[in-house]
Amino acid sequence: MNCTCSKSNIESYEKFELKNFNALKISSTADVAYFVKDEAQFCSLFERYKNINVIGCGSNVLLSSLGVREPVVLTRKMSEISFRKNVVEVEAGAAVQKLSVEAFKNSLSGFEFLIGLPATLGGAVAMNAGAHNQCISDFFVSARVFDTLENKILCLDKEQMQFSYRNSLIKKNPNRYVVLSAKFELIKAEHSAIENKMKENSEFRKRVQPSLALPNLGSVFKNPTLQDGQVQSAGMLIDKCGLKGYKIGGAGVWENHGNFVINYNNCTSSDYTNVVYKMYDSVKERFGIQLECEIVRMGEFSESEEEKWKIMSN
Ligand code: EPU
Repeated sequence: MNCTCSKSNIESYEKFELKNFNALKISSTADVAYFVKDEAQFCSLFERYKNINVIGCGSNVLLSSLGVREPVVLTRKMSEISFRKNVVEVEAGAAVQKLSVEAFKNSLSGFEFLIGLPATLGGAVAMNAGAHNQCISDFFVSARVFDTLENKILCLDKEQMQFSYRNSLIKKNPNRYVVLSAKFELIKAEHSAIENKMKENSEFRKRVQPSLALPNLGSVFKNPTLQDGQVQSAGMLIDKCGLKGYKIGGAGVWENHGNFVINYNNCTSSDYTNVVYKMYDSVKERFGIQLECEIVRMGEFSESEEEKWKIMSN
């Protein structure tokens, strides 16, 4: 389907400070930023620009302290959630935390794991977000996705999305596809059963993971699967390297869980990169395991940062 786009009245800003638009609270300036409020506005920007950086709530995005030259599109004002019986359609900028609560109000089970997860729908679909043995792909039906290569909207079903652990077609082709909205089919369940599961998940999160008062991007690395098929906790491996509490500049490994890096004091993208690299290198040295990063990056990074990210992506 070709995109019919209205180009009118898109809220935009020049030299826009993104500090409050990324969970790590990195100070980074976008040359130009747009707040889209519907699909038509979103698509019109794809027609105008070749490369666009999309931010939901920036919960998984490392922004460069040197700034972002290419246009940034913020989706948080494009956030409709609509239920029809047990089917829910959600726009890219909707907070998944809200989605979890709305599903509960409708006595629908399947999104209990999203409680407390600081993400928007677009990012959660792209990375197939998961926790507590549930993930986005479990109840996924289809997504409307903009294909920037073919310049059109596609409707992709579950198989076409190629979901796997913290991965999808979107994540594999970061410069090509952008999620506009997605549809899910949930399961009718007892209100109290959903509530209990949400409480349990919420308590686990509070006990084991840092709150947003400690700015962070969630798990830095995926849990690696070893040759014998066993899944190891990346946090445990980093912990065994003695890195909990390890700091460079304003960034450091969280004292309570090895797979989180916190912005303790105005950290730069370079501080964050250096800490992450130390974690990667230590685990590789000690266990011979090459961890795979979950974080995506945005903006112009220094040569030394690029060098480290290149090593980590090999
Ligand atoms: N552990 C340590 N030291 C640490 C951290 C963990 O010994 O520093 C041990 C724990 O004691 C536990 C085991 O490692 O026995 C597993 O730790 P945890 O239960 O915290 O789970 P995880 O593997 O670290 C995974 C997901 C989380 C998800 C939780 C709950 C990944 C990379 N992490 O964490 O997802 O919320 O399970 O289901 O898949 C995310 O992807 O951003 C994320 C937070």
